[in-house]
Parts: sequence; structure tokens; C-alpha cells
Amino acid sequence: MAKHYVSSVQISIFLLLLVNPDFSLAKNGADRIGSLVRESCKNWTQFPNICISTLEADSRSIGVNTFPNLCRVAMEVASTRINDTLTFLSQFQVNQKDPTTQFHLKACVRKYLAGISLIEVNAIPAFDEKDFEEAYNDMDLARQSVAECDDSSLKKLFNGRETELIQFITDVVNLTDRQRRISN
Ligand SMILES: *[C@@H]1O[C@H](CO)[C@@H](O)[C@H](O)[C@H]1NC(C)=O
Ligand SMILES: *[C@@H]1O[C@H](CO)[C@@H](O)[C@H](O)[C@H]1NC(C)=O
Ligand SMILES: *[C@@H]1O[C@H](CO)[C@@H](O)[C@H](O)[C@H]1NC(C)=O
Repeated sequence: MAKHYVSSVQISIFLLLLVNPDFSLAKNGADRIGSLVRESCKNWTQFPNICISTLEADSRSIGVNTFPNLCRVAMEVASTRINDTLTFLSQFQVNQKDPTTQFHLKACVRKYLAGISLIEVNAIPAFDEKDFEEAYNDMDLARQSVAECDDSSLKKLFNGRETELIQFITDVVNLTDRQRRISN
């Protein structure tokens, strides 16, 4: 009888240990990661709310636990966000009859493609080689390229998307700026 009692207690403890550490680890991990994103955005970026909401909406930021990792992920997210906006923009090219708008749309597509290329081909590989100065410069060039697509004739097509995009990229430039300064 006593033996059975002990073993059922042991089983209960065993089950608790089995279930609980996983649960509490996951919870603490998520809090820590959440605060890394929030603190980094608040401490170092110009548009912290855009920075936080954009990074938190992307599953790639779930695994990050150091500032350099966060910075690396933020660059990837910037590239994805430019691509998303590019896809959004391309839908207007097909039916756009006004030659001036068509011209500006084409110019913007080129600027966005250049921005993606600067991040994917230059900034991220430089970052991986720990050349943070170069990564920062390339991110800033990407920001300039995307910001050059600001023709007023496209404003109503964009409906605020490009403003939010440029703000997020500016934040990522701020994060890479922070990374190059702490590694110097
Ligand atoms: C943000 O700033 C606070 C207060 O200065 C500091 O304690 C914290 O470590 C900083 N966090 C990051 C990720 O830079
Ligand atoms: C973020 O970057 C922009 C553009 O380079 C700069 O004007 C601004 O001062 C930076 N803000 C912070 C908080 O570093
Ligand atoms: C943009 O995303 C699409 C779909 O994920 C992908 O096929 C394409 O290669 C991307 N474009 C660039 C320039 O990265």
C-alpha cells in the first residue's frame, strides 16, 4: 500500500518535472527575447514603435537572444519588407495607363530592387564577415535608394506603405550603426 503511495507521488513529481520546465523555459525565453527587441528598438532607433511591431510580427525574431543576432534578423526583415512592398507596387504596373505614373512606378521598382540587392548581396555578407562598418554603409545606401521612391503621383497608390517602410529601414540602419559602434 505504502509502496504504491510513494510510487504515485514519484510519478506525479516526474510528470511535473516533465511538463513544467519546458513550459516555464519557453515562457521566460519569450519574455527575454521580447524585451531584447523592445529595449533595442527603444534605446537605439528613431521609430521604436514601427521597429517593435515589424520585428515582433516576423517569426525570425523569435529565436534571437543577442543584439548582433537581432541586428542580422532586422536586416533580413528589411529586405523582405521591401520585397513585399515591391509586390504590392507591381500590381499597379499592369493596368497603369498614365505614362507619368507608369514612369515613376518603373523607377520605384528599380530603386526597390537596388535596395534588396544592397542588403542581400552587400550588407548581410559584410555583417557575417563582421565588417560592421561596411554593413552599416550598405544598409544606409539601401535606405537612400528606397527613400528615392517618393514621387507624389504615387502617394495615393501607396497609401502610407512607403512611409512605414522607410521608417523601418531607418530603424535597421540605426541598429547596424549601434552594432558597428559597440564592436569598435
Ligand atoms: C537599453 O537601455 C537600458 C537603460 O539604459 C539598459 O539597461 C539596457 O541594457 C539597454 N538594452 C539594450 C538592448 O541596449
Ligand atoms: C537613426 O538614423 C537616422 C538616419 O541615419 C538618423 O538621422 C537618426 O539620428 C538615427 N537615430 C538614432 C536614435 O540613432
Ligand atoms: C521576392 O519574393 C519572392 C517571393 O518570395 C521571391 O520569389 C523573389 O525572388 C524575391 N525578390 C527578390 C528581389 O528578392
